[in-house]
Amino acid sequence: MNLIKWITSSRFWKSWFRNPYPRDRRSRAMVILNSLALHLHPVRVPKRATKVTYTWGLGGLATWMFMILTFTGVFLMWYYIPTTEDAYWTIVKLETGVTFGSFFRNLHRWAAHAMVIAVIAHMTRVFYTGSYKPPRDFNWVIGVGLLLLTLLLSFSGYLLPWDQLAYWAIAVGMEMGGATPFIGKQVRMALLGGFEIGQQTLIRWYTLHVIFLPLATIFLMATHFWRVRKDGNISTPVYEDDEEELRRVAEERRRRR
Ligand code: HEM
Repeated sequence: MNLIKWITSSRFWKSWFRNPYPRDRRSRAMVILNSLALHLHPVRVPKRATKVTYTWGLGGLATWMFMILTFTGVFLMWYYIPTTEDAYWTIVKLETGVTFGSFFRNLHRWAAHAMVIAVIAHMTRVFYTGSYKPPRDFNWVIGVGLLLLTLLLSFSGYLLPWDQLAYWAIAVGMEMGGATPFIGKQVRMALLGGFEIGQQTLIRWYTLHVIFLPLATIFLMATHFWRVRKDGNISTPVYEDDEEELRRVAEERRRRR
């Protein structure tokens, strides 16, 4: 007992855990307010909003996939060389001659597929539960940006092995971009970095994939989470047999009108 007291009153312990064990509402609120990580959530969250089967944790799953992608992506960057001569062979070498190379490459690939699926499923859940309505309409728009970035990250990564699949994916993408009304030529030029597919195309998509798109995604994700918090945490499910909640929602609607 004395040992526990000695540990919990030590300077080292107190540097990590600044608040005493929260026994009442006020000290529970203080724990949340003083912690950067816990501060992502509002001080109070309605119990029903924490029901797993309401969100299915899909937004969290997308975040988790993004973290795995960042971690494994750094590993891939140690070996990958973004030149048209080396790109393909560095991937072959990674698969055959690097410890855990194949494992990390596959983890990166599968996490990318999983992220696209998770984001689309999350968007479907948000739509199905009507959570896109005010006050969460702005966060829906941020979400559309995140969906676009996720798809672009996926597409740009697909090009990097510089194999036949990648080459023809660029060719198709370029033709599609080139068909844009009025600015087709300019879009094609922007996608290729020149008049034809080559080194300048690869370096352009590589830079987008490893710097610009991840940074833009981190920025939008941070804004997305901040909005979830500011909009009073996630929307709350309403059950047909929950009369009190139905009355509260009806009252809120009446006040808005
Ligand atoms: C990288 C992609 C995304 C990530 C990491 C992400 C993450 C999250 C997280 C963690 C939440 C909290 C609740 C939950 O897990 O469902 C959330 C809520 C929300 N997200 Fe996303 N999201 C992404 C994409 C999207 C997309 C594509 C849309 C819609 C176009 C969207 C719209 C919303 C809205 C409106 C909420 C509030 C939902 C509510 O209050 O019930 N998000 N998001």
